[in-house]
Amino acid sequence: MPSEGTTGETYELVPGVPFRLHRTDKSRLSQVDFHNLPFGKVFSDHMFVAEYRNGKWQNFRIEPYRTLQFTPAMIALHYGQIIFEGMKAFRTVDGKPVLFRPEKNIQRMKRSAERMAMPPFPEDLFLAALKELVWLDREWIPPQEDSALYIRPMMFATDEYIGVRPSETYWFIIFTCPVGPYYPEPVRVLIEREYVRAFPGGTGDAKAGGNYGASLMPARRAQQKGYHQLLWTDGHEHRWVEEIGTMNVFFVIDGEVVTPPLTGTILPGVTRDSVITLCREEGIPVAERPIAIEELFAAYEEGKLQDAFGTGTAATITPIAEIAMEREDGTVARILLPPVQERTLSARLKQRLEAIRRGLAPDPFGWVLPAIPERLQSTAQA
Ligand SMILES: Cc1ncc(COP(=O)(O)O)c(C=O)c1O
Repeated sequence: MPSEGTTGETYELVPGVPFRLHRTDKSRLSQVDFHNLPFGKVFSDHMFVAEYRNGKWQNFRIEPYRTLQFTPAMIALHYGQIIFEGMKAFRTVDGKPVLFRPEKNIQRMKRSAERMAMPPFPEDLFLAALKELVWLDREWIPPQEDSALYIRPMMFATDEYIGVRPSETYWFIIFTCPVGPYYPEPVRVLIEREYVRAFPGGTGDAKAGGNYGASLMPARRAQQKGYHQLLWTDGHEHRWVEEIGTMNVFFVIDGEVVTPPLTGTILPGVTRDSVITLCREEGIPVAERPIAIEELFAAYEEGKLQDAFGTGTAATITPIAEIAMEREDGTVARILLPPVQERTLSARLKQRLEAIRRGLAPDPFGWVLPAIPERLQSTAQA
C-alpha cells in the first residue's frame, strides 16, 4: 500500500477506531494556479480511504491521492453499485477551514447507500474523516470568493464477481479538488419532454452514479442545440418541473418563491434546503409545490415571472437566463428572464450564503463547522 514516498502516523479517528495518516512527501500544491482553476480537474494531495469486508468498515487511512487498481470483474463497473456526494470546504475571512452543513451530505449518502443495497458509512467516522482530510489539505482551499475546495465522497462495490447481487466488499473514498465557479454565466435551459431522469420508485433521490450516466445523452442533445442544461420534467406527463442537471430549481412568481416538492424523483439538495430556510427566516413567501410548465409560461406572459435560478453545491445559486420548450411543430417557445442586475432576491440569497460560509455574517442555523480534527481542536483554535 502507500508506503513509498510517504511517512505514516497512527491516530484514533474517533475514540477506539485506529486510523493511519500517510502524508505525501511530494506536495503538488506549488503547481496549482488558484486564479485559473478548471472545475474538477485539479486534485489535492491526499484522500481518505476505508474498506468494507467481513461485514464491517475497516482499514481507515489517509494516503496520497493516487491511481487505484481493480479487477475488470468488479461489481461496481457492471451493475452500478456506486454512489457519491458533493460538498464544499471554505476558508473563512480569518483563515479557518470550514465545512458547510456536512451532516446533510452524510445523511444523504446514508440514504443513497440504503437504496443501492450498500453498507452506510458510519456517520461519526464520516465527519471525523472529512475534518482530518480537509485539515490536512487546508492549503488547497482557494482563498478567493466564488472558489472552494470541492469534496467528493464516494463508495463503490469491489467484489470480483459476475452476477447481479449486492457486493460483499466496498471501498469508501473521499478526495478533494480546489474549484472555481461552475457556471460562470447565467444558464440557458431546455425543457425535456421525451427522456426522463427519474421515475417514482426509482433512484432519482439517491446520488447514484447511474442517474448521471442516463442523463448524459439527452443533456448532450440539448447542449448541441446551444443550451447549457436540461430542465427535467416528470415521467408521467412531461408537464411538471423537476430539476436541472445538477441543480434544484426555483422560480419567483408574483413575489412567491416556489420549488418542486421532494416526492422521490429529485435530489434533496442541501443548497435547496438552505435557500428555503433563509427565505422562511427573512419572511419571504416560499412554497414547495408542483409547478406545471404552463404555469411558468402563463406567469411569464403576465409579467409575473420575476426570477428563476438553480441551486447546487457546485453551482451555488445560478441565475437562469432562458427557458426554452420545443413545440410539436418544431417551433420553440422561449421564456427570457430579466437581466441579472434586476434579480434582487437570488442575488441577495447568494450573497448571504456566501457571507455565512465565509464567517462574514452570523450563522443563525449553525451551518458552518470548523474543519479541525477533534484531537487538535484545543490547539488549532487557540
Ligand atoms: C441531480 C442533482 N440535483 C440537485 C443537486 C443539488 O444538490 P446540493 O445542493 O446538495 O448540491 C445536485 C448536486 O448535488 C444534483 O446532482
